[in-house]
Amino acid sequence: MSERPRTYLTTPIYYASGEPHLGHAYTTILTDVLARFHRQNGREVLFLTGTDEHGQKIQDEAEKRGLTPIELCDTMAERFESAWDGLGISHDRFIRTTEAEHRAVVTAFVQRLWDLDQIYEGVYSGWYCVSDERYWTEKDIGEERTCQICRKPVTHVEEKNYFFKMSAYQDALVAHIEANPDWIVPEVRRNEILGFLRQPLGDLSISRPKSRVAWGIPLPFDSEHVAYVWVDALINYLTASRAIDPTADVGHQGFEDVSDSWWPADLHVIGKDILTTHAVYWPTLLMGVGLPVPKRILSHGWWVVGETKMSKSLGNVVDPLSLREEFGTDAVRWYLMREMPTGGDASYTPERFLTRYEELSNVLGNLASRVTSMIVKYRDGVVPDAPGAGLDEEIRKTLEVVRSSMASFKVHDAFAAAMDLARTANGYVEERQPWTQARDADSPGALDETLTSLTRALVVLCALFQPVTPEKMEQLATWLGISGVPTLEEAVAVDVRGRRVEKGLPLFPRVEPSWAGNSDG
Ligand code: MSP
Repeated sequence: MSERPRTYLTTPIYYASGEPHLGHAYTTILTDVLARFHRQNGREVLFLTGTDEHGQKIQDEAEKRGLTPIELCDTMAERFESAWDGLGISHDRFIRTTEAEHRAVVTAFVQRLWDLDQIYEGVYSGWYCVSDERYWTEKDIGEERTCQICRKPVTHVEEKNYFFKMSAYQDALVAHIEANPDWIVPEVRRNEILGFLRQPLGDLSISRPKSRVAWGIPLPFDSEHVAYVWVDALINYLTASRAIDPTADVGHQGFEDVSDSWWPADLHVIGKDILTTHAVYWPTLLMGVGLPVPKRILSHGWWVVGETKMSKSLGNVVDPLSLREEFGTDAVRWYLMREMPTGGDASYTPERFLTRYEELSNVLGNLASRVTSMIVKYRDGVVPDAPGAGLDEEIRKTLEVVRSSMASFKVHDAFAAAMDLARTANGYVEERQPWTQARDADSPGALDETLTSLTRALVVLCALFQPVTPEKMEQLATWLGISGVPTLEEAVAVDVRGRRVEKGLPLFPRVEPSWAGNSDG
């Protein structure tokens, strides 16, 4: 194992029943930004994403399309992978729950629960939502008998199930949350879970009879039943950590010692729709097999259209890839990161998208092209030999805000601060008036100082924006004559004097959006 500090980050694994949309893209880009930020700061990162491929929802969707479940999953896994590719996602591992390795880890996990007497057989009688793959109580579904999440009708089921003794871990879980105030971020979600845990916690049904849901991982102790898809799915985080070796003899599979693996995860990034499964089911299941719980959970809000959550079942989804075709990958990433305060909800509108794009173009892009072209014009493309400390104080303050905002996952604040630095640098141009300084042949030092200060700020901006707009920052780094995008420390320390700079093209060119002039947006 390497000596570098390590960070293991995960996204949810997305259902292989629908196309990736802007909501999925948000979670994935948010995690990608965190992963890139950590890598940039010298950490070794394992960034995991993937697809959730078992269960009734997939089985039903495949049947509807006249495909076998695995045919559907193969197609959709590829769609997600290529969407992430198109959006600049730098994941290290794409997991599919139909993989042999994952199936084996789920089998070992469930067997371990069974061996430790954490499972009993019972009868489940209640309501089920196929769309969200969730059981609901009479109270949850209300008089309309609909799912609390998607509002679709639920169906009544009565069947033999295996239950995990989740209730036995209620006190331990509450104690853990109370002892670790930052375990669930933001606080509103932490309070939601603590509120939920004020009621007695029931046991968790962890199986489905094969007669109803054949598409799943069979239980090792009863092949007529498959693992409940949420149990199967949550275990993906463990599979990818390489903590468990299902091929080893019982007692040596890794449940006793995870020190040689990536487990526990440093952060699960999830939407608020799947908080209970991650903050209650998952940690208690881990306690049940004697493994450490994930270190933190970040639960973000929803992209809404009007008042409603963007979701496939509501038919109001925005395709991130079509936005990307018009504006480029980095513009989509910037919009999503800058527009939504991490944890809150945000409403997608084409107008806001355009406003955010213009910010990139008019503030950051404009600064990059004016600084590089002035150096070419006034100093033959060589950064002058001047101290260039004109923006140092602003740079120092910005780095402080960025570091503390990123540490508390306030990604929107971090990038707002970065953009403010670009704004300040543009203000500095106006204030110093290099075009006037250029005419003053008696004191060339003033123009030198302006240009060097601006170049230093641009190098820092290049590092600051790298996690969110990696493609464009790569370009900017080339124009600035620096090889590769620097880390924050390097960016501040870099000696720009005497470097050769190229005149950059507009980083974010003007775009005439396809919706312009179209009254339905
Ligand atoms: N397969 C489960 C997760 C299993 S994780 C062990 C699942 N999949 S999903 O395809 O429905 O994706 C859910 C996740 O997508 C949400 O938690 C959230 O991260 C993201 N989003 C889906 N719609 C969203 C919005 N409208 N807005 C923001 N994020 C959204 O649940």
